[in-house]
Amino acid sequence: MTNSVPSSQAQIKPAAFRRTIDGYQVDLYVLKNSNGLAANITNYGGIVVSLQVPDKNGELGDVVLGYDNLNDYLGSNPYFGALIGRYGNRIAKGRFTIDGVEYQLAQNDGVNTLHGGRKGFDKVVWQTEELDTPDGPALKLTYTSKDGEENYPGTLHCAVTYTLTNKNELKIEYVAETDKPTLVNLTHHSYFNLKDGGAGDILGHELMIKAGKFTPVDAGLIPTGELRPVAGTPFDFNTPTAIGARLASKDEQMQPGKGYDHNWVLDRQGKGLELVAAVYEPNSGRFMEVLTTEPGLQFYCGSFLDGTNRGKGGAIYQQRTGLCLETQHFPDSPNHPDFPTTKLRPGEQYTQTTVYRFSTR
Ligand code: GLA
Repeated sequence: MTNSVPSSQAQIKPAAFRRTIDGYQVDLYVLKNSNGLAANITNYGGIVVSLQVPDKNGELGDVVLGYDNLNDYLGSNPYFGALIGRYGNRIAKGRFTIDGVEYQLAQNDGVNTLHGGRKGFDKVVWQTEELDTPDGPALKLTYTSKDGEENYPGTLHCAVTYTLTNKNELKIEYVAETDKPTLVNLTHHSYFNLKDGGAGDILGHELMIKAGKFTPVDAGLIPTGELRPVAGTPFDFNTPTAIGARLASKDEQMQPGKGYDHNWVLDRQGKGLELVAAVYEPNSGRFMEVLTTEPGLQFYCGSFLDGTNRGKGGAIYQQRTGLCLETQHFPDSPNHPDFPTTKLRPGEQYTQTTVYRFSTR
């Protein structure tokens, strides 16, 4: 990885994000908390472009992968930092039924639908409101997805608020309402690299996931429906373990996604905001905790990154240089009645909250 430039050195210029798309103004917004942490967010796709957090020496560094200009986000982009909707992760063959009516979505991942379809929430322009909250600076993004957009039924009003709290957390709060029965499964797709923002790999990051089970997948990464115990498998992260430690395992579940690209069934106490995962990077001392209200967590170890994405400051993102911890409902839930439901009906409110909390050790 000799060509890589640590993205912490990259300069993000707002002018590189200013443009009109679909008739709406796209821009770059900066949230800075009282401790100097900073998040750059664009309202195109609600993308977190950069996230500066301190290491154990107090030195700020960018811990997410991405691009330093809007144009690159419009090209080939594996959902770097984006908001994902209406349905995060996969729906088998892009098909689901609600109240006896069958819907067919665009098949944009082999025969399956991934992350909302052809033009998911990661590719739309969100309306913005900058807020000064008691917790810290916030950016409220709203988007109305029209009835029939990407073939999903119902007009869906969505609001997502990013807050960079003074407790060094990136808090993401989602709310959605519909006028017809529909599906909702929103998530956030940052690729984290706590060591160097993506110049090197994430294999030494030590991961903890509070989950006794995960959802095994078929060759197309669709859950088989089984909730399989993690005990005795490379999927057991109840004790913090380096991500690279078991990647060479012959476990058949390591084949479909070239390593980890699975949903964990989180061990939860209730329905509130709970700590479900944590990542520690020993060189930088950075520690990130993940709290959520969701029942599932997609841990993707970035195996499909292949060096073709030239990111911030010219960084070349090779395989496994970033990891995603996507809090969500389980993939393909519409076709698995046993999974927690992702249906939303008129009069109901979809809510989800996820916090990425940063500290050092
Ligand atoms: C999710 C999926 C992965 C991959 C990435 C984007 O994490 O589970 O299989 O598609 O998004 O590349």
